[in-house]
Amino acid sequence: MINEVTQEQKNIDAFLAANSDKKVVVVQGLGFVGAVMSIVVANSDANEYAVIGVDLPNRKPVIDTLNNGEFPIHSTDAKVYEYFENARKRNTFYATSDNYAYTKADVVIVDINLDVAKEVGVDKKLEGYSVNMDGFKAAMHTIASRCKEDVLILVETTVPPGTSQKIVRPIFEEEFEKRGLAPTFKIGHSYERVMPGPGYVDSIKNFYRVFSGINEESADAVEKFLHTIITTDEYPLTRLGNTNATEMSKVLENSFRAMNIAFIQEWTEFAESAGVNLYEVVNAIRMRPTHQNIMRPGLGVGGYCLTKDPLLASWASQELFDSITLTQSEKAVSINDRMPLHTYKTITKHFGADLYGKKVLILGVSYLQNVGDTRYTPVELLYDKLEADGTEIVLHDPFVPQWVEKDMMIDGGDDAFDGAYDAVIIGTPHDIYVKDGKLDSFLSKSDNLVVFDSHGVIGDELRKKHTNHEFKIIGRGDV
Ligand SMILES: NC(=O)c1ccc[n+]([C@@H]2O[C@H](COP(=O)([O-])OP(=O)(O)OC[C@H]3O[C@@H](n4cnc5c(N)ncnc54)[C@H](O)[C@@H]3O)[C@@H](O)[C@H]2O)c1
Repeated sequence: MINEVTQEQKNIDAFLAANSDKKVVVVQGLGFVGAVMSIVVANSDANEYAVIGVDLPNRKPVIDTLNNGEFPIHSTDAKVYEYFENARKRNTFYATSDNYAYTKADVVIVDINLDVAKEVGVDKKLEGYSVNMDGFKAAMHTIASRCKEDVLILVETTVPPGTSQKIVRPIFEEEFEKRGLAPTFKIGHSYERVMPGPGYVDSIKNFYRVFSGINEESADAVEKFLHTIITTDEYPLTRLGNTNATEMSKVLENSFRAMNIAFIQEWTEFAESAGVNLYEVVNAIRMRPTHQNIMRPGLGVGGYCLTKDPLLASWASQELFDSITLTQSEKAVSINDRMPLHTYKTITKHFGADLYGKKVLILGVSYLQNVGDTRYTPVELLYDKLEADGTEIVLHDPFVPQWVEKDMMIDGGDDAFDGAYDAVIIGTPHDIYVKDGKLDSFLSKSDNLVVFDSHGVIGDELRKKHTNHEFKIIGRGDV
């Protein structure tokens, strides 16, 4: 049977014909990491890459948006849009769902998701978790069954340590053998430290990177490639001995942070009972150079990484290396997942558990201040609990036009501040609320509100200015 050349393959061929002097980089996965990584590569200093972003057919709206000249992720970083515009001017970026792209790649960068399935019910404790590698394995087969013989595969997805050697490499060996090819591929690992806030592009282009390869040749190829993308003069690369090490580095880095956050939770409750201002204590401790990253109290932990990476690590230890359970790391995730319940309890304590019909304004929905990412936001558990109690909730977030996970449109303008409420909760401490004065002016025109500040952003000045309102600040036993 003769393979018919599809219109999409013709589009890819035309894009590559216009870039015939360039090497071809295919980025697998056009989410928060892959979309921006794609345009960073498409803007390489020497203009040496034609980049094709590939995502799944069900992400056609994102692919079309990209090809129609709009960047699909809302960002406060102007560089995202500058880089995207410049890539379009250069004609060095094209998006598709056609796996034909892999047949043309000199380098494939893997930026797909690898999720942990957790059962966190509103009232349930963390009941375990599971890691399903099937989607990731399928993605590797997709590449390995089509790629060029001397391709460089650069895995950036956060994977359980051991994945490149124990999962990716055997899949490539198997597919190359089926194709009658010698195992001439190169496989490297270099994890992302993407921060989708105001420094989105810089968190890729101007930041430190750790990398490795399954062998010296692979590591050398990754090093050479990263030098062309990242400002390595200022942010030198760190080469580790093997891919297990870089994969471990990523999940250890995030487990450390998750544990640090979980650690302060117990102290938050202790400080509140003991009449202590924990922020003041933390600031005093931070004077010691060895203790500068002790965390402050908060609503909870969200985002795609800290909520799962410690579990990927513990899963790998047990399943890929037949070793111990990383109990402290697992415990950190379970503490963090339930952390919003502390703010919820503070609210119920105040209203005597009778929340039915109370009108509540929640300021901020995303998981991080000044960012629009709502994945695993701790606001969700708080929202679910309050909703289950029959509270009337109005949500406000200038960075989240739509709360995708809840399929809800969110007001980002001023309408939310026209209503009458019983309580206001700071869910995410976006600058607009306290720093830029929105809450101050809202409090000035309202009466008898209870303000729940889950992040300790309301200072004494603001509190004392509005004596007609009551303030409950998480971590402040002195208020
Ligand atoms: N978001 C962050 O801030 C961040 C930071 C550092 C590292 N990471 C890691 O980077 C990886 C990607 O994260 P993300 O936030 O971009 O995830 P995401 O969910 O936003 O994007 C992943 C994309 O991959 C696509 N995809 C899945 N399987 C595919 C396949 N077989 N072929 C083509 N596309 C496929 C999905 O459709 C989706 O669009 C994860 O491992 C994550 O842990 C994320």
